[in-house]
Amino acid sequence: MQLAQDETMNVSPRHAYEDVIDEMCALPWSELSRHDLNLVAGAYQHFSTQFCETVEIACARFPADRKLIELRDGECDTDNLSPYPGVAEPGERMNHDEFMRRTVAMADLTPADRSKLEALGDAYLATARAVDPAIRILSLPSYEDGGLERLFRAVLRAESWDEPSLAAFQHFLVGHVSLDSNPETGHGALCRHLRPDDRILPLWRAFQTLLVDAVPRFAQAG
Ligand SMILES: [Fe+2]
Ligand SMILES: [Fe+2]
Repeated sequence: MQLAQDETMNVSPRHAYEDVIDEMCALPWSELSRHDLNLVAGAYQHFSTQFCETVEIACARFPADRKLIELRDGECDTDNLSPYPGVAEPGERMNHDEFMRRTVAMADLTPADRSKLEALGDAYLATARAVDPAIRILSLPSYEDGGLERLFRAVLRAESWDEPSLAAFQHFLVGHVSLDSNPETGHGALCRHLRPDDRILPLWRAFQTLLVDAVPRFAQAG
């Protein structure tokens, strides 16, 4: 009986990738030091690269899809995070992964930190780029229609943001919660017509591995 009602209400089945999002949100974000948070930003930068690539792949595959083009306009060559001190001039347009690259460039990270982040990022990108582009496209609403918003709200539970790179990262996260979540014009609404399923699970697992391996405190917590 319940199943019939769910079908009538068009309730989506629970997917395993949603469990991965839950696990990522449950990481001990509030215990992170400033250095830990800079490592998170350095890891996230590589996710951001992967995400911008996926938006471009989607627009190339569906060039007449106005919603996806609008999504790209909100993620690539955009001034919607500008201005920000040390990162973006007033009205300056850039991809969101470029905003993160400039943010991490300001971070107080050692050469050893940066080498490790680079290696983890390269491994993450190799995994993501090996996924069928059609599956990468399907992952967009899993990020934009609530997944990243939940993750960003969890990251924002961290307490220490009072240095320039972290304040810029916080600006990025807070900005994205509002960019993604408007029910009609938000980024979630612009890609909700794509229906993700668990073929995207490897992408979320790779993202989780990237974050956990970047922050020793997470590896210890696991
Ligand atoms: Fe973005
Ligand atoms: Fe977005």
